[in-house]
Amino acid sequence: MDFVEQLKSQVDIVKTIGEYVRLKRVGSTPRYMGLCPFHTEKTPSFSVHSSHQFFKCFGCGVGGDVLKFVMEIERLSFVEALKLVAERNGIAMPKREYSDPESKLRGALTEMHELAAAAFQSNLMGPAGADARRYLASRGVTPEHTAEFGLGLSDAAGQQLTRQFESRFAAEQREQSGLVMKRQESSGFFDRFRGRLMFPIHNESGKIIGFGGRTLRPGDEPKYLNSPETALYRKSYVLYNLHRAKDAIRKSDYAVLVEGYMDVIGVHSAGVRNVVASCGTALTNTQVRALKRHSGRIVVNFDPDAAGANAAERSIQMLLDEGFQVRVLELEGDLDPDEYVKQHGADAYRARLEKAPSYFHWLADRARKKFDMRTVEGRIQGFKFVAPAIQRIADRLERFAVANDVANYLGVDEKLVRDHFSQGSAERRNVHHGPQVPPNERLLLNSLLGSEAARLEVIPPLSQMPVVERFVTKRIFQAIFAMHGDPAPFRFADLEGRLADADRDLLSAVIFADEVLEEEKAHEQASACLRTLQAEDPKSEVAALRAQIKAAEREGKLQEAIRLAEELDRRARTRSSTQV
Ligand code: GTP
Ligand code: MN
Repeated sequence: MDFVEQLKSQVDIVKTIGEYVRLKRVGSTPRYMGLCPFHTEKTPSFSVHSSHQFFKCFGCGVGGDVLKFVMEIERLSFVEALKLVAERNGIAMPKREYSDPESKLRGALTEMHELAAAAFQSNLMGPAGADARRYLASRGVTPEHTAEFGLGLSDAAGQQLTRQFESRFAAEQREQSGLVMKRQESSGFFDRFRGRLMFPIHNESGKIIGFGGRTLRPGDEPKYLNSPETALYRKSYVLYNLHRAKDAIRKSDYAVLVEGYMDVIGVHSAGVRNVVASCGTALTNTQVRALKRHSGRIVVNFDPDAAGANAAERSIQMLLDEGFQVRVLELEGDLDPDEYVKQHGADAYRARLEKAPSYFHWLADRARKKFDMRTVEGRIQGFKFVAPAIQRIADRLERFAVANDVANYLGVDEKLVRDHFSQGSAERRNVHHGPQVPPNERLLLNSLLGSEAARLEVIPPLSQMPVVERFVTKRIFQAIFAMHGDPAPFRFADLEGRLADADRDLLSAVIFADEVLEEEKAHEQASACLRTLQAEDPKSEVAALRAQIKAAEREGKLQEAIRLAEELDRRARTRSSTQV
């Protein structure tokens, strides 16, 4: 077995995918369902099959083995996915140099980021870090949190990383790291970050892929300098702190979204671990989906300033469009989350968080302040202020429920609500239904896949039957027949590998269909399917019976001939009764 096969046989696909997607087991079957991480959906069409070690989304079509999943979700090359999965499962990779240039570059960049983080941390702890440590203390960041978040300090002279990298990495790799920059005039390099407080930025699996650097001199511009986009760091994909927060997000079933690095650290140190930051920009679709894999509920806690409100507005729209239940936490006194925690304490912050109203109630509260709620006109105006946001809710039932709720809250007649929403926006559906496989074929295929004994019994006669030619899944059966001749043990992945895309889709549709049986039941089912097919196939069973009757008559075995004739008669009768 080569390394890839060995790895795949040791890794549990459900556990691996479960790190990224909330999966629910379907009854006591080996199947799991969840919301697809690769496209937007409200009802789960993403399935994982633990005994076939295979995943498939019936909404967007993506599917494959555990490595394919990791490649897609982490956007890695095959070799990188292999390494990551091996590493996470404590499996040693064979010492072979992989030459694919893209993975090589990313490997080098990863190493440079690790070196940089270590250098920054030791600077902060050393004599050069005294001022920065004082600054952190003045902002209430403890040494424990400094260590937990891997904070550091970049060399003020701008030479440290340049020197460290010089002999170890090729110039093209250094140039693409975002950590050092080429001089305009001469040939040398210098460090991008100089004398700044450094915040490592991790991807979801916890690898450092970039940095944010805060100036330590008040008034210095820019206040924050961030890594540029590199082969590791795609800004629109990353949420700051997601790798630390994701377990807490799942456990509490909601996330807290703040704006900045310091807000994350402040909120985290208040005991709220499910916090992530967008880092100063409005959320992107990819970031929202990354969150959605862990929970569909969120509290948006943005800065109260105008820029913050703007970013919040756009981010909230994006979250609602992706089906999130959004609550809004607006802190009094113009404080950002970090300042609030520092001034009012952890308990006060958590209490405010718990009481944060839903986005629609928050809007309604704003409407209450804006319009005169003592008059009917004012209340109607208030409702109309909130209505456009409600109108955007894709789900019709939910839209009506929220509309009624807000109407009640504002004291508006429900009839107005009905008038307003009777011509609601069209339902969005993006789940297309896969190819249809007749139940017969599905049952037979599933039982053949699930039982060795079934394959041994059924494949020899079945492969001779012309009815297979008419199967929708004909090519899948033919592949199974072909594999049956091989001495190698049957493996689902091998079957998959023999099929063209369309047939793979059919196969996925079959294995994720409703019927899943234990080995023994699968065998029984396969035999039953075979008997049905034979009974339906005039050329096989019936013809065989007729031939046997003739032979018995020839040989003068009258009793036997009568018994066979009765049998033939019985078959004919059951067949015509099932046809009714
Ligand atoms: P402190 O001022 O240290 O409390 O940081 P903060 O996190 O509260 O910063 P602020 O609210 O000003 O900005 C929020 C986030 O926006 C920051 O954490 C950064 O990610 C980002 N940001 C702020 N200023 C800049 C800037 O000048 N350049 C860039 N690229 N990003 C910035
Ligand atoms: Mn702040």
